[in-house]
Amino acid sequence: MEIKEGLSYDDVLLVPKFSDIISRRQVDTSTQLTKTLRLNIPLISANMDSVTEANMAIAVARQGGIGIIHRFMTIEDQVKEVLKVKRAEAIIIERPYTLPPEASLREARKMMEEKGVNGLLIIDEFGRYMGILTHRDIMFEEDPSLPVRQLMTSKEKSIFAPWGINLEQAKQILREKKVEKLPILDEGGYLKGLITLKDIKRKEQYPLASQDSKGRLLVGAAIGVRGDSLERAEALLQAGCDVLVIDIAHGHSDAVIETIKALKERFVGVQVIAGNVATAEATKDLIMAGADAIKVGVGGGSICVTRVVTGAGVPQLTAVLECAKVAKEFNVPLIADGGIKVSGDITKSLAAGASTVMLGNLLAGTEESPGTVVLREGKKYKIYRGSAGYGTALSRKQQKIGDQINITEYTPEGVESLVPYKGHVNEVVNQLLGGLRSGMSYSGARTIEELKEKVKFVKISGAGFKESSYHDVKLL
Ligand code: XMP
Repeated sequence: MEIKEGLSYDDVLLVPKFSDIISRRQVDTSTQLTKTLRLNIPLISANMDSVTEANMAIAVARQGGIGIIHRFMTIEDQVKEVLKVKRAEAIIIERPYTLPPEASLREARKMMEEKGVNGLLIIDEFGRYMGILTHRDIMFEEDPSLPVRQLMTSKEKSIFAPWGINLEQAKQILREKKVEKLPILDEGGYLKGLITLKDIKRKEQYPLASQDSKGRLLVGAAIGVRGDSLERAEALLQAGCDVLVIDIAHGHSDAVIETIKALKERFVGVQVIAGNVATAEATKDLIMAGADAIKVGVGGGSICVTRVVTGAGVPQLTAVLECAKVAKEFNVPLIADGGIKVSGDITKSLAAGASTVMLGNLLAGTEESPGTVVLREGKKYKIYRGSAGYGTALSRKQQKIGDQINITEYTPEGVESLVPYKGHVNEVVNQLLGGLRSGMSYSGARTIEELKEKVKFVKISGAGFKESSYHDVKLL
């Protein structure tokens, strides 16, 4: 039997090539996530319960990537997380919070507090705009039973704009009139939406943000292949989820193929990421079933023990290179998932044929990851755990979400760990992107597509690996 050699990121380096790139800013990091979805940066936060819920997904999408909400919760809770991301920002808020004119000040204050907003729109029973109630209107009012009709700034006195106005025009009105909220009305005076200064500022603050056609942040969500998977998929798509990820450790199976087919048949236009796989055959089978992107990686994750427990897996660089042979032929993007330790690994995986990378470890431990900070010996950490470890399996069982697990018979393929607290996602992402941009310029590549064409890998020895990081010095 012929046994092939398998390589991982640390086994290779990118051979420097002629480059006419003067500044890192000339490097374009945009890339395909799926056949139809494009991102400005090639980073995805992993669908793990210690990595991606709404806060992480919002933070990563604002930077230009995307977060995949994990599936280890009830359908209802997962939908709530998706909605939080979709409501985080928009060009125009289509369903702003409203009250009827006869509602009391008490009700208005309660709604403002519950929804975390400082203004409400007042509409009549037919949906016609009557006025706006802002924090300033009620600041000094003491009688909670007063109807908002008496307190609001009436339509005649308030600033509003016609349906169809563009963002620049809206910005001008907000600036000239010195207001923060601009209700949008149609010709009949019916409320159609709301544009806020806060949303406009966010657009300027995060120019690379991943957005849908309505200016809302992109978000993905994971599903399984058993039980309520299709029901879960339907609820997630209804909530506005932009892409579904079939989250299975061994993705080269009938169950995954059937799930892809069922999703594509039932939900027209749905984008499906399928995985995880590590071979060209698996990539082809999932592409033929209809997958819109393939997630590559078996056993390479930092919290994985799959290769130890089962003996199965393929070193990640070889897995990406093999899968890329087929993916390229069909023009389907690859996601390199697991084992990314440093920014250089991102450059290597994209050069090997991936279009994006999925990060667990590097984003776990940030402020935006789920869970609280743990103090140990004076240092800050957060918990990071494998999806196939005891912790996630136990919480899944407690929630009774359909995946039947007998814990006593359960063989974990993931571990529970502590990772250093890393601050905010944007700081981590900035460092990773700096490394990637510089790495691309070493290959003379202005785009990720060009990187794939120009790349030349060199295989290195143990001595070469040792030489590749700092050595023979004492760190300060
Ligand atoms: P990193 O290296 O970024 O890897 O921490 C994250 C990826 O690891 C995979 N994953 C697992 N693999 N057992 C495994 O064998 C597990 O318990 C487990 N949990 C997550 C997953 O692909 C993730 O994106």
